[in-house]
Amino acid sequence: MLKNKNIVLGVSGGIAAYKAVELLRLLKKAGAAVQVIMTENAAQFVGPMTFEALSEKQVCVNLFKDAGDASISHIRWADEADAVVIAPATANFVGKLAGGIADDALSTFIMAVTTPVLVCPSMNSNMYLSEAVQRNLKTIEKDGFGVLSPGSGELACGIEGPGRLPEPVVIFDRLVKLLKTDDLEGKRVLVTAGPTREPFDPVRFISNPSSGRMGYAIARAAEMRGAEVTLVSGPVEIDAPVNVEVVRTNTVDEMAEEVFARFDNTDIVIKAAAVGDYRPATAAEHKIKKDSETIDFSLVKNQDILRELGSRKKNQVLCGFAAETRDLQENAQKKLKEKNLDMIVANLVNCEGSGFRTTTNSVTLFSPGGKVEPLPNMEKTKLADIILDRIAGL
Ligand SMILES: Cc1cc2nc3c(=O)[nH]c(=O)nc-3n(C[C@H](O)[C@H](O)[C@H](O)COP(=O)(O)O)c2cc1C
Repeated sequence: MLKNKNIVLGVSGGIAAYKAVELLRLLKKAGAAVQVIMTENAAQFVGPMTFEALSEKQVCVNLFKDAGDASISHIRWADEADAVVIAPATANFVGKLAGGIADDALSTFIMAVTTPVLVCPSMNSNMYLSEAVQRNLKTIEKDGFGVLSPGSGELACGIEGPGRLPEPVVIFDRLVKLLKTDDLEGKRVLVTAGPTREPFDPVRFISNPSSGRMGYAIARAAEMRGAEVTLVSGPVEIDAPVNVEVVRTNTVDEMAEEVFARFDNTDIVIKAAAVGDYRPATAAEHKIKKDSETIDFSLVKNQDILRELGSRKKNQVLCGFAAETRDLQENAQKKLKEKNLDMIVANLVNCEGSGFRTTTNSVTLFSPGGKVEPLPNMEKTKLADIILDRIAGL
């Protein structure tokens, strides 16, 4: 999303200015061209040289000294910017934004910006909760600025409460969101992801190698596009997407219960979880000892969550996944029809760069009426958006 984009990073004089350095690194790594503009007070916390080295551009602190060339740079940067992020934004800077004051390089630049701006306030809790700051934040939100609420926790001043600058990865994530279309605004999306685990004693289970990456990528992309997202997740080792409700489950029955409870209040369901088809008929109460050479298992069929959703479906859009090792087309089309789905994302899991535990996937999309769309191998993050494009089209 940020490749070749012009991003302006504004830094004002708060204790969290050091986090802007990491944010700059993330932006550069994503391929953005970053112009840093600092307040004079920000330069008391982190030297412009650090930002200059990482951004590979002259940093502007003083409008009259650092303009670089004879053009009116702050207007040019404002014209060229695809997005702006102010991190950290001090109480003073938020006040200046709310009051329309342009008395230094950063506040003058901001006045000329017409592209999305994300303001990340960070300060002592009492300052943050003060009438003036709260009033100013409301004003700038009304004026169209995006405001990222600070986190709570122990602050540099030693007290606990709201005011902490969110981690750079979160600011980065919210900035990407600002640049996305919000075509799923107002939609409630439910995504399932990851494996299921079926225990056969208190310390062992049968499962599958699903990493959850595909479902997590879809949940993140849907949230970025404005949807209200719930992610019902099996046990995985990846971070929860920002601003997504995550419901943790283990077994198929647990997953089914959580999904069914939410289905009536959902517009779009995308079932990317690798749900186990069978479970041990019984689970031992205590750990099975290795006394005998073999253990005989009897497996019983699990409930079919997708089929049940297909039969209950009213106005919802229902998208399933099919992981196959052969006869992809035949199996996917059968599943699409039998389970009353609106789309199925099918992949062969036994080929390189696709399926379980990879960051990429090769899939074919099947829709009712015999529509077949094979897609090239790509990152799951990119595929997530294509799947949502097709669903939005439905
Ligand atoms: C050590 C120190 C830490 C500070 N941390 C913050 C802070 O986290 N947030 C804030 O709003 N102001 C903080 N301030 C106060 C601002 O630096 C001060 O209001 C300044 O005028 C802000 O200028 P600027 O908005 O032009 O950068 C701090 C001041 C000092 C001395």
